Amino acid sequence: MVEFALPKNSVPKKGKFFPAPEHAKHTKRFEVYRWDPESGENPRIDAYEIDLDNCGPMVLDAIIKIKNEIDSTLTFRRSCREGICGSCAMNINGKNTLACINAIEDYPGTIKIFPLPHLSVIKDLVGDMSHFFAQYASIKPWIETQTPPPADRERLQSREDRKKLDGYYECILCACCSTSCPSYWWNSDRFLGPAVLLQAYRWLNDSRDEIAGERLDDLEDPFKLYRCHTIMNCTDTCPKHLNPAKAIAEIKKMLLIRQQG
Ligand code: SF4
Ligand code: F3S
Ligand code: FES
Repeated sequence: MVEFALPKNSVPKKGKFFPAPEHAKHTKRFEVYRWDPESGENPRIDAYEIDLDNCGPMVLDAIIKIKNEIDSTLTFRRSCREGICGSCAMNINGKNTLACINAIEDYPGTIKIFPLPHLSVIKDLVGDMSHFFAQYASIKPWIETQTPPPADRERLQSREDRKKLDGYYECILCACCSTSCPSYWWNSDRFLGPAVLLQAYRWLNDSRDEIAGERLDDLEDPFKLYRCHTIMNCTDTCPKHLNPAKAIAEIKKMLLIRQQG
């Protein structure tokens, strides 16, 4: 398991403790990063004891229980609660993952929850994703064509060509991979990071797209692409079991073939 650095907003101090109800027989301790920019105070870690007999099975269920029943000020993102939307991405016991698809019982002892590392924190577990999504937009995540479409049908794709997108189209843009990459921590202003590069490869690899040359020109850059040093945290942490490191290697291979051709 990879241990990550704390978020940018400095080292948190010990905070409040919320004990379990007296009658609770089966409890679990959660330690959660808290920071409210409007308070003017430093970040802190609050501890909550949860009665597991009155809680759903997943880490997200416990976080929702804390907000609904114990401390309504806790702020976090979530939507689908089934690993589709990517919004509940956070760092749980040292690993970036999705809170909704990880069972509480799979974590022995205390569960420690932090925002994704090396994002500026907006509040509590909510990191600022603006730069990440601006980088995503920069790779033109859509099909670009130069020829007119066929008069009588859509632009079709063979089953074989569609299959080439497997392992890439499933990315939910949760940013677990990019925020686990040390190269992205230090160079995120110019390095696109594993999530956006995996997406770049997904569009390069689409048989219907007609601007592969322009896409490769954009990526052929010492920072945007080549700041990947094959550290592999990205692939290790991806909660959808995708392989951004492989996508990056494929882009490098495409550029090499182009240089030699
Ligand atoms: Fe999340 Fe995996 Fe996509 Fe990275 S590659 S953004 S970890 S789904
Ligand atoms: Fe980073 Fe993954 Fe490359 S962790 S350095 S993007 S292989
Ligand atoms: Fe949508 Fe977790 S709530 S991925």
